[in-house]
Amino acid sequence: MKFFADTADTDAIRELAATGLLDGVTTNPSLIKKAGRDIMDVTREICSIVDGPVSAEVVATDHDEMMREAEVLRKLGDNIAIKVPLTIDGLKTCKKLTGDGTMVNVTLCFSANQALLAAKAGASFISPFVGRHDDVGYPGIELIADIRLIYDNYDFDTEILVASVRNPIHIHDSAKLGADVMTAPPEVIWRMFDHPLTDKGLAAFLKDWEATGQTIG
Ligand code: G3P
Repeated sequence: MKFFADTADTDAIRELAATGLLDGVTTNPSLIKKAGRDIMDVTREICSIVDGPVSAEVVATDHDEMMREAEVLRKLGDNIAIKVPLTIDGLKTCKKLTGDGTMVNVTLCFSANQALLAAKAGASFISPFVGRHDDVGYPGIELIADIRLIYDNYDFDTEILVASVRNPIHIHDSAKLGADVMTAPPEVIWRMFDHPLTDKGLAAFLKDWEATGQTIG
């Protein structure tokens, strides 16, 4: 499973990248607003921090303007993935861009039928939002299961990029289903490391080691 950071906070990205576990980054208009920086500057910096895909989202809603914005964004780095919403114009743009060899991440996916359309449009990634499904009482992880089954039925190349991840359980359950990628806020990724028995066990090892009076080297 690839790990993407869902943020435009370059300090947080650098910290995660230092672990060697970070495979890419996703941003969106809300994350750009939260970062409080110019989209071109912050996206260019993110592309210089990670080698993997960096999703930059268009904000136009019509195909022609989406294509124009995509042209501007994809000049920011060879690892740019253009993010488009799951709309008719978004998928028209997806089809055109992937036809020209550009990575496309289709976002705001909330049904398996939408994911099927995105795969037919040649999407590089599909971003189903699990957390927002949970918010309205629908088990978002079931959407991941449905998409995985459908994509495997037809051997689609589109990678399932689980988004709107709110906790490590979303990552755990998505990995069990064989999702290709997950994107999560850095604080959720850091929480994956935590387990009280690991902390307790390490403390016991170090206490016993100290009692031996030995050092290594
Ligand atoms: O990548 C999409 C993600 O940023 C949305 O997360 O928590 O606003 O549903 P959330």
